[in-house]
Amino acid sequence: MAHKITVPDLRARKTQGPKIAMVTAYDATMAKLLEAGGADVLLVGDSLGMVVQGLSNTLPVTLDEMCYHGRAVARAAVRAHVMGDLPFMSYQASPERAVESAGKLLKEGGCESVKLEGGRDFAEHVRRITAASIPVMAHIGLTPQSVHAMGGFKVQGRGAEAAERLLEDAKILEQAGAFGLLLEGIPSELGARITASVSIPTVGIGAGPDCDGQVLVCYDFLGMYPDLRPRFVKRFAEVGDAIVDATRAYVAEVQGGAFPTEAHSFGSGAKAELTGNRPVIGSLPPGYGPASGE
Ligand code: KIV
Repeated sequence: MAHKITVPDLRARKTQGPKIAMVTAYDATMAKLLEAGGADVLLVGDSLGMVVQGLSNTLPVTLDEMCYHGRAVARAAVRAHVMGDLPFMSYQASPERAVESAGKLLKEGGCESVKLEGGRDFAEHVRRITAASIPVMAHIGLTPQSVHAMGGFKVQGRGAEAAERLLEDAKILEQAGAFGLLLEGIPSELGARITASVSIPTVGIGAGPDCDGQVLVCYDFLGMYPDLRPRFVKRFAEVGDAIVDATRAYVAEVQGGAFPTEAHSFGSGAKAELTGNRPVIGSLPPGYGPASGE
């Protein structure tokens, strides 16, 4: 049985390496494949509002929806750590609300830690969640839940004053008990400065090469959006094209009568026949899984 990656394991990566490889996941099938590829952390991100639900931002996502997707991912994650996003207005109103929502993500959403967006204004929230024995990662820089306040999805921390403020935020959140920091959409020099100034790991997305780890939305690095090429994304496959091509081939065979054939059909004999069940989610088929356990 693979070792389940824990929060202390993730903290230790800061000094011992390797870098933390985090990806988003929203369902069991994808979670299983991402884990088979060796992802350390599966983030059930509220980005699901955009990539799963087709919304233009993450604001409408509810805590119940996060729990639904969290459970699906948690069922598949044998080795990877499962982190869940606290969605918009599930924590902002008060530290009490934050503790309740974080607790729900663990109790009903199958998550092992939570992430919340915000700087020093949320230090007390972080403190109270941590005091309830719930590990929390603080997300600073470009915080998508503040899209209206920021005037769009814009790079943050540019200019000396803004950079200094983000650096202070990082230290305050570390002091408040955050076990890690997610740095999004900031200049690389600032990503490096923050990483060097705190003793907890930083995970970057558009924050340069010097963070202690990296996160990407899985549909982005898999190339599911042929027309979208944000600077901070590297495509490691063209899965979007592969899906379109496979679907074209399927449609052509169905319409042309080439599929299904007798080889894909059942006889009329009385023999009980299995239809070929999918593997039970939660167990990896032979040959899957990281090359060496931790
Ligand atoms: O919601 C999300 O997926 C995120 C990552 C993009 C960092 O917060």
